[in-house]
Amino acid sequence: MTQTSWFQNKHIVLGVTGGIACYKACELARELGRRGAIVQVVMTESATAFVSALTFQALTGREVKISMLDPKAEAGMGHIELARWADLILVAPCTANTMAQLAQGRAPDLLTTLWAASACEKAIAPAMNQQMWKHPETQENLDRLVRSAHIIGPDSGIQACGDIGSGRMSEALDIVEALETSLNRGPLSGTQVVITAGPTHEPIDPVRYLANRSSGKMGFALAEAANRLGATVTLIAGPVHLDTPTGVKRIDVETAAEMHTAVQASLDGIDLFIGAAAVCDMRPSSVSNQKLKKSKNDLSQITLVENPDIIQSVAISSNRPALVIGFAAETESVLENAKRKLTDKSLDAVIANCVADGEIFGQDTTEVTIVYKDSAQPLAAGPKSEVSKDILTTLSTLLPKRI
Ligand code: PMT
Repeated sequence: MTQTSWFQNKHIVLGVTGGIACYKACELARELGRRGAIVQVVMTESATAFVSALTFQALTGREVKISMLDPKAEAGMGHIELARWADLILVAPCTANTMAQLAQGRAPDLLTTLWAASACEKAIAPAMNQQMWKHPETQENLDRLVRSAHIIGPDSGIQACGDIGSGRMSEALDIVEALETSLNRGPLSGTQVVITAGPTHEPIDPVRYLANRSSGKMGFALAEAANRLGATVTLIAGPVHLDTPTGVKRIDVETAAEMHTAVQASLDGIDLFIGAAAVCDMRPSSVSNQKLKKSKNDLSQITLVENPDIIQSVAISSNRPALVIGFAAETESVLENAKRKLTDKSLDAVIANCVADGEIFGQDTTEVTIVYKDSAQPLAAGPKSEVSKDILTTLSTLLPKRI
């Protein structure tokens, strides 16, 4: 097993459908867990005739989901949440019947509904009698599924029914290795990304500072999503109370000047820079060693000087990344102001968000529009994690193609 398994911390829905190869899905669940994945097993009713849900529960530490119309399960993580939660839906074994349903967009049960409702990576490991596999309708379904899913196997050999031919489910290890190879090529794979996040604090004296309402959630969500999409990510964070996303290199800073220095030191060889930080535009011209006294009128004497414009310095630097993307948090004329920032700072695009009435700051959800020089693309509102995925998938299409 490689140290940088694609499966590390990934959310996997392991769909198990009814066939004798169900026993191999137990080993698959274990192997995914060994590689650091969080595995949620979803079984079809017929799969439970081959292996008990309890076996998978013991192997994954999570209650197996079977029914679509289970009020208890829906109260925990509903099927739409589960569809959003998944980084990969892997159906193994995948019977001819399930292949047909997936290929035709049918959704008669929980597993097929998740498949239809999720935009995540998808894979199947077919398992069936060799004659069923050869059947023209099955091959037609396969042709359809190839367009949106990774197909692993099937293998050839002696089948459980005694036939010899193609249709045996691939071995668990082979399935996982095949997926490691194809999934490691995410849309940002091989890309170096630097993201700024959070506020900056500009000290006034030992007890006071200038700041803003940014929590860092947007920038951290972007860093996590970029990592999941295959990028090598450096996250330069102002003072926030958030855990570092797995696999992301984090540099903590306090002030805009420190953020500027950290960004400049991280620019070499990067492809994509995203400024999600709410950098204080101004800082006190001097920082007092002692607490300023209200009685001496010290506080009303504070003068401000401009901070460096970090993103602009990236956009005009000699080693400019291929894409320099800003954010604009606006309370009015959102798109117009975002466009002005794009031009003034020489950016490739600006992610505009409306923060009127304190919205978006500190919240788990957001709604953004990607503003380009001559157009604007609104994205669906949702959790910052989902919106980040959409932003990065969109931006990945603008990066120069890598060989
Ligand atoms: O952190 P959260 O609570 O999740 O909230 C997210 C957010 C609202 C902070 C985020 O989505 C966002 O909009 N960040 C940018 C905030 C902003 O309005 O920035 P700005 O308009 O001041 O700056 C425009 C761009 O220039 C930004 O990319 C900013 O990072 C960058 N900038 C600004 C000033 C400066 N001195 N240096 C910069 O690099």
